[in-house]
Amino acid sequence: MKAELEDFNKGIEAFEISRAEEVELFRLKYLSKKGELNDLFEKFKLVPLNVKKEMGQLLNLIKQKAENKWQEAKAEFDIKTNEIKISEIDSSLPSELSYTGSRHPLKIIENEVIEIFNKLGFVYSEGPEIEDDWHNFSALNFPANHPARDMQDTFFINGDIALRTHTSSVQVRLMEKGKPPIRAIMPGRVYRNEAISARANCFFHQVEGIYIDKRVSFADLKQTLFYFINELFGKDVKIRFRPSYFPFTEPSAEMDISCLLCSGKGCNVCKHTGWLEILGCGMIDPNVLASNKIDAEEYSGFAFGMGIERIAMLKFDIKDLRTYFNNDIRFLSQFESL
Ligand code: DAH
Repeated sequence: MKAELEDFNKGIEAFEISRAEEVELFRLKYLSKKGELNDLFEKFKLVPLNVKKEMGQLLNLIKQKAENKWQEAKAEFDIKTNEIKISEIDSSLPSELSYTGSRHPLKIIENEVIEIFNKLGFVYSEGPEIEDDWHNFSALNFPANHPARDMQDTFFINGDIALRTHTSSVQVRLMEKGKPPIRAIMPGRVYRNEAISARANCFFHQVEGIYIDKRVSFADLKQTLFYFINELFGKDVKIRFRPSYFPFTEPSAEMDISCLLCSGKGCNVCKHTGWLEILGCGMIDPNVLASNKIDAEEYSGFAFGMGIERIAMLKFDIKDLRTYFNNDIRFLSQFESL
């Protein structure tokens, strides 16, 4: 055994490591599982008891020696390899163009809408996508048997917990949190149980707005939305209001804008009416104010809600709603990243 240990010692001393590949060869020959050191440890098991201690010490010593040699060589050649890599870089070459992602079209529109309302003093707010019946329906004056509460429209999770069907639920969260004046803009994702097609999806995005203060009137609502449309679509776009119904506003209206494609003359997009429906709005129903402990004698307010997908479709001439959600790079990369 002693002779074998001495041979091993001579072997590691004589092994010359002058290239990076030899570091690995050294490890394979002596230190790996199938290497010589392992063989010696196997043989050591059979050494007679009287010399076991002496042989054991010798074995550990040369093991340490082999490991040190390998570690030192490894450190040295790692440094050398890095030096070579650095010197191979030609810093005078022009750099490769880096690819920057682009913003999603829905986010571009959402940001634009928020920015316009920010200028009018509307602050940004958010609410949860999983809502209870109170915030999504009851506090917004939805009668108990209103069809919107139906399973057909709403994704219920359990009991009265559901995925919110509109961002109007955030209005309630704001009213219960703070006292008027309240002036906020609230974007978010909403969910409805719809079959997926070019014109409908089971989730989409809305922006909600609310303004509550003393003496807020329908004229304020009209002027605010008029300003908004002019900022978003330009000065030439006309608006009109049609009477409508929402449980949470009274009176309620739907707002149309003159068709962007035919300037109101009539085309396929506006179904030859010259108008495009763009949002719902109205004066907040006194029942909603009362449900949220706001004195309807003292305060009044308006609210509005719009779909982002629809606005982006009009602005970017997108024909199929599904393209927003397919994550197709060819579609997404067309939009400017801001
Ligand atoms: N929540 C309505 C919807 O999802 C949109 C809406 C209409 C919001 C009128 C409002 C409003 O705040 O006043 O269709």
